[in-house]
This record gives sequence, C-alpha cells and structure tokens, in this order.
Amino acid sequence: MANQDKRATSRREFFANLFMGGGLFMAAVTFLRDLWLYLYPDLGRRRYTKYMVAKTRDIPVGKARRLLVGRVPLYVVHLEDGFRVFSGICTHLGCLVKWEDARQRFYCPCHKGIFAPDGSVVGGPPPRPLDEYRVSIENELVFITIEQRQGRWS
Ligand code: FES
Repeated sequence: MANQDKRATSRREFFANLFMGGGLFMAAVTFLRDLWLYLYPDLGRRRYTKYMVAKTRDIPVGKARRLLVGRVPLYVVHLEDGFRVFSGICTHLGCLVKWEDARQRFYCPCHKGIFAPDGSVVGGPPPRPLDEYRVSIENELVFITIEQRQGRWS
C-alpha cells in the first residue's frame, strides 16, 4: 500500500515537473525570440505592390478623384505639377476627409481640419500632412506603390 502511494506520488511529481519544465522552456524560447527580434529587427524584407489608380485623361488639372484600394480610401489629385495621391484619412483622429472642388482643399468635417491640395495642413487640429503615396505614370496611367513589410515569422 505504501509502495503504491509512493508510486502515485512520484507519477504526480513527474507530471508536475514535466509541465513546469515545459512551461519554463516555452517561456525561455519566447523571451529569446522576442529579444532577437528587438536586437535585430528585420528591416530588409519588404514587398512592394503597385496599383493602377487612374487614367491621366480622366482627372483634369485642379480635380481629384476618390477611390478605395482594398479598404483604404485614397484621393488622386491632379495638380499643376502632376499627379499626387493622398490617404483619405485625416491625420488628427482618423475621420475621412473630403475633397472640395470649389475651394481646392481637403476638408475634415469632424473637427474642421483643412488640408491644401498638396496635403499640407492649412487649418484645424491635424498635427501633420495627409499621408502620401509614391506615384508613377506609365502609358497615361497613374500608379501608386505601397510598401508592405513582412515579418520573419509571418
Ligand atoms: S479627425 Fe480630422 S480634424 Fe479631427
């Protein structure tokens, strides 16, 4: 009887040690992985995706067109010096901005933020200009290039 109790106890101890050791091992592996990512961030692996966003002849000078790329609202603006593409999300608290043709500006109705056609802040609380995308023109088509980072374990 005493021998059986001793065996049961040792089995219990065995499993307790196994789970504790496994948990400590997994915690150590996770910690070392995060430490490695902190010390050596993976900045080299980037993927670029190119999207066609407009035909040049469809947007006259001084006009803008709103569109969605995925779920991201964008504005393609045709300025005197060429095409620019801006995010349609206000840099203050993330409301959607509107292009106002008559006033030649972006307007955010949430807190009356105002952006110039080049995306710079003209009035209101936005702390910085609208986010801008890299634009290229090929064969009378307007393209933007979006950079996407890929994590080491993604
Ligand atoms: S969210 Fe646009 S001004 Fe506040």
